[in-house]
Amino acid sequence: MKKIELPKIQDSRGNLSFFEYPNQIPFEIERTYWIYDVPNGEIRGGHAFKEQQEFILALSGSFDLVLHDGKKETIISLNRSHVGIFISKLVWREIRNFSTNSLALVVSDKKYDENDYIRDYNKFLKLSNESI
Ligand code: TYD
Repeated sequence: MKKIELPKIQDSRGNLSFFEYPNQIPFEIERTYWIYDVPNGEIRGGHAFKEQQEFILALSGSFDLVLHDGKKETIISLNRSHVGIFISKLVWREIRNFSTNSLALVVSDKKYDENDYIRDYNKFLKLSNESI
């Protein structure tokens, strides 16, 4: 996982940020989705991917990313429209503490594939230890 600070172009009309491969993010985008209208207290995620890599940012509002790479947990609060997190494969993630009206943007290097999900935490720990 890696924090990526994106360009922020500021002028009197407001701010503009962007990302493109390979200058800001390390993969070509195959899919984009976003998470919004999350009820207070709900937790998203709760899985890892066998192959998929993602880049997540809080376009609006804030939330916490709770990441586990099989060895240690890292909690990152995202609350800036120009700062995102690259998450490599085999990282367990939960997204918590969504603020009202928060908007999480996620881009992935793979199309949606349920077979790429690891939804069992013990299976994730086993796979991540095997891959070392
Ligand atoms: P899921 O990945 O479990 O959501 P989260 O990671 O936010 O907890 O996906 C929720 C549902 O949406 C699940 O039925 C699969 C479906 N889905 C798609 O059809 N396409 C997609 O690109 C994504 C991310 C999910």
